[in-house]
Amino acid sequence: MANKTITVEVKDLKKYFMLPTKKYLKAVDGVSFNIYKGETLGLVGESGCGKTTCGKTILGLYDATAGEVNFDGFSVHKKSKKERKDFTKRAQIIFQDPYSSLNPRMTVGDIIAEGIDIHGIHNGKDRKDKLFELISMVGLNKEHISRFPHEFSGGQRQRIGIARALAVEPEFIVCDEPISALDVSIQAQVVNLLIDLQKKKNLTYLFIAHDLSMVKYISDRVGVMYLGNLVEITSSHQLYRDPKHPYTKALLSSIPIPDPKIERNKKIIPLEGEVSSPINPIAGCKFASRCSLAKDMCRNQVPTLKEVDNQHFVACHFIDRI
Ligand SMILES: Nc1ncnc2c1ncn2[C@@H]1O[C@H](COP(=O)(O)OP(=O)(O)O)[C@@H](O)[C@H]1O
Ligand SMILES: [Mg+2]
Repeated sequence: MANKTITVEVKDLKKYFMLPTKKYLKAVDGVSFNIYKGETLGLVGESGCGKTTCGKTILGLYDATAGEVNFDGFSVHKKSKKERKDFTKRAQIIFQDPYSSLNPRMTVGDIIAEGIDIHGIHNGKDRKDKLFELISMVGLNKEHISRFPHEFSGGQRQRIGIARALAVEPEFIVCDEPISALDVSIQAQVVNLLIDLQKKKNLTYLFIAHDLSMVKYISDRVGVMYLGNLVEITSSHQLYRDPKHPYTKALLSSIPIPDPKIERNKKIIPLEGEVSSPINPIAGCKFASRCSLAKDMCRNQVPTLKEVDNQHFVACHFIDRI
């Protein structure tokens, strides 16, 4: 990471949803991290741990229950309506499901140009030229512009979603599991396209995924989430070389390592025990119910993120023993 300018600063961010039962579901329960300009920060964790909610709250698509998000020094949640509209030009999202995220009644061209039209960026021939540029940038053809989403495969649809996000020339993109719904055979193509575009356009990414396999490849740093909290964050190299949190270790043990010697001797650490609920989470460490190291204090005291090595932060009471 050559450049250390902070693009996104997330400070003790919370997002609670009020349920019909009048109870709060704590989807994001106090997370703090920075995303530096030009980097890819991976965000991983099991389904339901709050990754999408975190990404959407960072973009101001959800109001925050508490905490702050600053983008390029300005508070995302305190912006006026006009400022928020301007912000949508600078920060975009690519959704997980390329089937439901494209309006089936709009042509591919109109889908891609949605942001251009909302912001009145290009008109007439300019708009058309820009569309041609965008569609070829993501590896599709000019002829595709007049077609409808159902005519495309999952991978092609995700390319359309990427072109739509790029249309307004953003600086920051939340990529919310952009490859999870795709065939394994085309996942790498889409990831390589994202990497390529990042280099060309100096983009900053928050790359969300539910397992650690592809995240290593694309991320400079990786944050691991468990039930609304960040439990570990460090460079992707360090996380794979020396994972510290018991949850990260379990996640890593379940992905294949492309080295037969290591793979053969690798122990899979099963995740046992009951997952604590995001509605009534236990008072202490939310991972305690599944953690083999857990002691009484883990059930009473919330562990905070501590720097245990250079730029390696872990939230665990027993980190020295790990
Ligand atoms: N709009 C919503 N209303 C109520 N609960 C929600 C809403 N969106 C997400 N949740 C809940 O918040 C938690 C986190 O969800 P989500 O952010 O989608 O997780 P992830 O992206 O990691 O799978 C889940 O328990 C989910 O059911
Ligand atoms: Mg999600």
